[in-house]
Amino acid sequence: MKKSLWLGLVLLLMTILLAACGSGQPADTDEQAGENNSETEAAEKQKLIVGTEAAFAPFEFLDKGEIVGFDIDLLAAVMEEAGFEHEVRNLGWDPLFVAVQNGEVDLAISGITITDDRLESYDFTRPYYESTHMILVPEGSDIKSATDLVGKKVGVQNGTTGQFAVEKILGENHPDILKYESSAVAIMALKNGDVEAVVTDNAVVNEYLKNNPNDNFVGLEDPENFESEFYGIMFPKGSELTEIFNEALTTVIENGTYAEIYEKWFGTTPDVETLLNAE
Ligand code: ARG
Repeated sequence: MKKSLWLGLVLLLMTILLAACGSGQPADTDEQAGENNSETEAAEKQKLIVGTEAAFAPFEFLDKGEIVGFDIDLLAAVMEEAGFEHEVRNLGWDPLFVAVQNGEVDLAISGITITDDRLESYDFTRPYYESTHMILVPEGSDIKSATDLVGKKVGVQNGTTGQFAVEKILGENHPDILKYESSAVAIMALKNGDVEAVVTDNAVVNEYLKNNPNDNFVGLEDPENFESEFYGIMFPKGSELTEIFNEALTTVIENGTYAEIYEKWFGTTPDVETLLNAE
């Protein structure tokens, strides 16, 4: 009884002493110092909210509930370079554009092609990826090129450049163009036989073929009918972040970080020269 009282007193004294040390004095151990530093850093760094549509592998997709992909890694590198914290939200494709416009998110990365139309309502960084379209068809299909799509039911992701590319061939609002909410759902429709072909971005077609060899699908290129286009990071029109991110992206491309991320996801070396010279 007596012993425990004495122990209690010592503990109380120690607590008072420790509290006195803590007040106003800089932390005296390395561990504490480290903790304090990262706390202040986190407090100083502004956190940006980023929108995406994570059904577009290998650019952004869900892996065990986590949003991953080439875009997500590139985004992290650019954020670090620009000195921001960030959080990625999986919003869906059409809502993404609304969310950027009404300020619900600060920016968006989602394999978004820089188009003249979009430039009227949004700002973009410099290009970070060159893309074109490909046609996904079942093996043995009589579709061999884009012009063969006439008279066929074609699946696209609603509101994408894939839709616009097919409209150029079949005509705007053509009933044979079936618009789905994501490229992944459009490919599902191809599996179910609801459509006879899907047109989407080439890297997405190639990724699908690689991961689903048992579907017996093939991918068709058609450089005569499908133009080359470029992805950019998208901001609300007039956002002061665009220039900051443009510079950070340029640094990440020039210092080799971009190539590392590219090799991780595509297994090849990127043509950084062409990318840096693109508009
Ligand atoms: N690059 C095309 C476009 O901008 C398709 C992008 C779709 N991206 C996505 N995450 N679903 O229209």
